[in-house]
Amino acid sequence: MMGRMVFIAGNWKMNKTVGEALDLVRELKLLLSGIKGVEVAVAPPFTALHAVGQELKDSTILLAAQNLFWEEKGAFTGEISPLMLGDLGCQYVIVGHSERRQYFGETEETVSRRVKSAFRHGLRVILCVGETLQEREGGRTFSVVERQLVGGLKEVGEKEIEKTVLAYEPVWAIGTGKTASPEQAGEVHRFIRQKVERLYSKGISEEIRIQYGGSVTPENIKALMAQPDIDGALVGGASLKAESFARIVRFKEI
Ligand code: PGA
Repeated sequence: MMGRMVFIAGNWKMNKTVGEALDLVRELKLLLSGIKGVEVAVAPPFTALHAVGQELKDSTILLAAQNLFWEEKGAFTGEISPLMLGDLGCQYVIVGHSERRQYFGETEETVSRRVKSAFRHGLRVILCVGETLQEREGGRTFSVVERQLVGGLKEVGEKEIEKTVLAYEPVWAIGTGKTASPEQAGEVHRFIRQKVERLYSKGISEEIRIQYGGSVTPENIKALMAQPDIDGALVGGASLKAESFARIVRFKEI
């Protein structure tokens, strides 16, 4: 088995004007130049994808979008299609982020449609799952994560699962400064890998990458990455500054 390549992605959420996005990505290119053995992606807001994509043409940093609509084109005011994302050079798209589930009515069904559509258009998917504080305290962490996984992967066959990255993001740890302890995160990552084995195969479960997300910082990344089933991070707040994101990417050197 080839080892799983570490994958660190920055989710900029609804932050950065085009000018600010360009400043950030230029600085990142400098700080990460020559980096090997880790895959890096940034997910700017839609409005900055084109400019950031142009800036990344001579870089190994990959371009990701934060969401997509499942139709290719048509009368869907305000939506962005997978065709458009491909056209801008996006390689990845984040699907099912908890903020989409919480504030924008994302359901298992709509997650599944987005995932299917992304693959149909040659995009790779970062599929997010994770429980709320109430669900964790109610002892429902595993059942919630399982439901979101099964729902999100419903239309994902053996060919597509190889292009899927999973992200475990406990909702109570996102943007709150409360990270899951490495052990808490590691436990759910192990559960997710076992579930992938049951849904697909042992081989696929060993290859699939599972990122952790939720208040990841340069200070806690190393301990999180020491967990055998954590293969990378989906970073929100700490990805908005080049210096802290680069330190996270370079965690092995800390
Ligand atoms: P955070 O966000 O790092 O700001 O907690 C993570 C995410 O939502 O992807």
